Amino acid sequence: MKIRIHGWAMALLFAACWTPFAGAQMREKDARGQEWWQHAVFYEVYPRSFADSNGDGIGDLNGITSKLDYLKDLGVDAIWITPFFPSPQVDFGYDVSDYENIDPMYGTLEDFDRLVSEAKKRGIRVILDFVVNHTSDHHAWFLDSKSSKTAAKRDWYIWRDGKGPDQPPNNWISTFGSPAWKYDPATKQYYYHYFYPEQPDLNWRNPAVEKAMFDVTRFWYQRGVAGFRLDAVDTLYEDPNLRDNPPLPGKDKFGRPLQDERYNKKLPEVHQALQRLRKVADEYDAVLIGETWTKDVKQLEAYHGEGNELHLPMDLMLTELPFSAKAFRAHIQSLDAAKSWPTYVISNHDIRRPYSRYGDGVHNDDIAKLMAGFYLTLRGTPIMYYGEEIGMENNDPKRKEDVKDPIGVIGWPEEKGRDGERTPMQWDSGPNAGFTTGKPWLPVPESAKKYNVEAENKDPQSILAFYKQVIRMRKTEPALLEGAYVPLNESDVNVISYLRKSKNGTILVVLNFSTAPQNPVFDLRKQGFASAEVKGLLQNAASAPDGALKSIKLDAYGVYIGRVND
Ligand code: GLC
Ligand code: CA
Repeated sequence: MKIRIHGWAMALLFAACWTPFAGAQMREKDARGQEWWQHAVFYEVYPRSFADSNGDGIGDLNGITSKLDYLKDLGVDAIWITPFFPSPQVDFGYDVSDYENIDPMYGTLEDFDRLVSEAKKRGIRVILDFVVNHTSDHHAWFLDSKSSKTAAKRDWYIWRDGKGPDQPPNNWISTFGSPAWKYDPATKQYYYHYFYPEQPDLNWRNPAVEKAMFDVTRFWYQRGVAGFRLDAVDTLYEDPNLRDNPPLPGKDKFGRPLQDERYNKKLPEVHQALQRLRKVADEYDAVLIGETWTKDVKQLEAYHGEGNELHLPMDLMLTELPFSAKAFRAHIQSLDAAKSWPTYVISNHDIRRPYSRYGDGVHNDDIAKLMAGFYLTLRGTPIMYYGEEIGMENNDPKRKEDVKDPIGVIGWPEEKGRDGERTPMQWDSGPNAGFTTGKPWLPVPESAKKYNVEAENKDPQSILAFYKQVIRMRKTEPALLEGAYVPLNESDVNVISYLRKSKNGTILVVLNFSTAPQNPVFDLRKQGFASAEVKGLLQNAASAPDGALKSIKLDAYGVYIGRVND
């Protein structure tokens, strides 16, 4: 007899053994020996743009708290909130001037505590963003560091003499379009910044820096935070000899010659620091997610260490692939073949929204459902980005003078910056999409009239309805949580098909990545099914009769998800 654990029973089990609270959390694994973060759906909230509770046009913590019921209903288990700490907002919060407080524009520590406790009531954990590579130039540490060459914290940042008059210490460049060194006339030295000049890099070779930063994580763990998303980990360390990066052919988007950033990125010391940070996280059973830009699966794998570094290094490579069955299949297979637990992402606050990136202008809604049916049914943990579930489009600034993100000003018009993917969450079809009663800090597109939570909640065919069903299925179908990924029909250039196969059930996923109708044929004898029977669970632009599995009929960008029995 097959043992089946029903969804509701599983939910009860999880609820019974999960008690996050301030301080050390009980270590729990579910019935199948997985950790909570392996079966959780994570959701990124960009606080400036999620919900504004006080009408100043900028989202805030109380706004997020007011939307927790929505997130629970969607099926979100953990929210990662991007930085809301005190900050001059040059990089919209990624320039932190105090790691242990809340910027007044977002609320207070009391508001934060209330958010955590209200989230906990709904079974939602809170993950913060930890900007490890740099601080704001307004941080007290940097103000001290800059005050003189002999200041107590001089060595907390990377100060060096120039090579000569008007010559920086080496040829490194900032990824945000300027040189990577800024001259300080008062102390006649340069400091290093991989991002904006207002974001000086911390010197992680100084043990005092590491200690101060680790203590920041303790501060928040003790306030009930369940983990961190680590910002820009690749750039934590620099070559102590500051060797010049070798030039590469070609130009970047700011028109500068490319370089091989071998001396200021992905140094081996990063891994040792992550291992030490992980030890602190383990004291609190917290989870570490990484912003890990990698060029191949091997590099991504390295961020897991021996299971002693990041729990969830994000696979950002998926976001850079062309929209093609072939490319996606090859990538998923290589990730699945690696031993670690994958972390899938299709969208975030630095990347064009997938609705616009993948959309062909005709089938965008179907494509949005296709992508949800795809990455939410893979073996691994998904991290969603707010608004993805309602089909929000990228709303790029139309004129240079409207751009808020400094890289969009520096790089206009090729690089329009990241405002387009950061526009307000679309809650209803009213003014400003219900985000604010004031003037939103970024404009709401016309399409918000149709693509919003209120309208889509009423429409069973909406993108939101589809997301909710896939997410619900992840929680009720054991195969989607624990099942192996078994690719099918691997030479099909248009349709990706796979099983998620476990001892507690098998799910079939069939995805048409083309405009042409498709009719893939299946024979699961090799996969151990003498006479496979299928039962449809969720479809969009696709159909197959329940019963003996022969073929699945798919229209343009159709998706079919069904249960397979023998
Ligand atoms: C990360 C963040 C990005 C920020 C940068 C500098 O890439 O995701 O938004 O601008 O780090 O902190
Ligand atoms: Ca506000």
